[in-house]
Amino acid sequence: MTTSTIKYHTLQHNNSLEDNLKIITDLVDSYLNKNQKEKFLLSVNDNKTHSFIINKSHLVKNENLNIIQGLRKSPLDEITYYHDEQGLGNSIFNKSGAIYMMDASSSIISYYLKDYVKENGLVLDLCAAPGGKSISLSLQRDDLFFLCNDISFSRVIEMKKNFNRLGLKNMISISSKVKEIEKLNSIFDLVILDAPCSGSGMIRKDKKMIKDYSSRKVETNVLIQKELLSCANKLLKNNGLLLYSTCSFNVKENEEQIEEFISKYNYEVIDIKVDESIIKGKHGYHLIPGIFDGEGIYFCLLRKKEASPSIPLTSIRLTEVEGISSFQYKNNYYVVSRMYKELLSLPLLSIGIKVLDDDTYNKHKYTHEFNTYIRDKYPSINISLEDATKYFNGEKLSTNLNLKDGYYFLNYNEIPISLSNKIGNKLQNLLPKRLR
Ligand SMILES: C[S@@+](CC[C@H](N)C(=O)[O-])C[C@H]1O[C@@H](n2cnc3c(N)ncnc32)[C@H](O)[C@@H]1O
Repeated sequence: MTTSTIKYHTLQHNNSLEDNLKIITDLVDSYLNKNQKEKFLLSVNDNKTHSFIINKSHLVKNENLNIIQGLRKSPLDEITYYHDEQGLGNSIFNKSGAIYMMDASSSIISYYLKDYVKENGLVLDLCAAPGGKSISLSLQRDDLFFLCNDISFSRVIEMKKNFNRLGLKNMISISSKVKEIEKLNSIFDLVILDAPCSGSGMIRKDKKMIKDYSSRKVETNVLIQKELLSCANKLLKNNGLLLYSTCSFNVKENEEQIEEFISKYNYEVIDIKVDESIIKGKHGYHLIPGIFDGEGIYFCLLRKKEASPSIPLTSIRLTEVEGISSFQYKNNYYVVSRMYKELLSLPLLSIGIKVLDDDTYNKHKYTHEFNTYIRDKYPSINISLEDATKYFNGEKLSTNLNLKDGYYFLNYNEIPISLSNKIGNKLQNLLPKRLR
């Protein structure tokens, strides 16, 4: 089959879209052989793959997932699953933070990355929102500590909600310009640069990507990527790792960026033993639909070989709340795996798990996230899937259990749902409105 014989569903009668699709699909010619290109072209008309990763601290038993339609585990890592279920984002699995919806191509990068990062390393995710790369790495390496930045404030707010739902205590987030972050100097063991790009790898996910593709869009992104790469270099320690990735098929945003970067700075490109479904480029790797079970992504892992001034960090002593190490900051406490004085120079938007609920409409002294974190301190009640679904819809539940009134933590098959106040035969709904 040739490109011109492909049917592009909605796009058949629109020449400019067809032309754009031809331009996009030809971008892979420098790294795919004929056979691989054919497989790729055949996949262009398919729907995108649907996948998620699991959060073991909220899921506990993987068997719970068996009710999800078309469930199949990734053959590569332990946390990625594919599925065919409509509306899984609205399920109690997602709402409880037992799973996080994310493309398999993206989560598989963390699977390879996890073996290279230094123990207890400090990570900067420069373009982090909505948090996928850091979340998938953190779920496999909870010893790491992440500073997650994104220039878009609204996307950082969404990212913060994702961290909260998953109960991650090793994440802090900011929405700052790179110039502000550069003031921190070379303190990071890993910088993740999942750069803004032309998005050509996402053509099955969002048909708008085909319509909007242009050489101008590529050139604009290439300039932003260069600036971000230079910032990443300033922030990395010697021997630190740089993960560069894009969701573009275009070598200008991928190999050529790396080529220029390594000609300017002293880095080695790390050779990773990847699965045969992943294509090795001149530098780095391409995940291509039709060859890999996911959307189009490029990634390259590099190690800095340049002496940078070593900056010792100042750890902040944590205090105890309910016997749990917390960081006291501006009239509240935050459960966080650690904290450094240097990071406080940034305008922090979220820190680990917030303890005291300072919401005007609060229903308990502690936040939902903190109560979920300390759930073992409460007596528990196991509820049905139906009741868990009702609870997330904001309803109060009925119970005929012969228990005294008071606070109970509700679980569905060990998946944490929420703290509830039992009054008579009712289980009051304590979920904050933002989570219903
Ligand atoms: C590919 S997305 C990141 C996806 C994210 N890493 C994940 O895995 O969920 C690129 C992000 O870069 C952000 N961005 C664009 N320009 C930026 C800049 N100059 N500095 C920081 N972030 C930027 C965008 O707001 C967008 O959220």
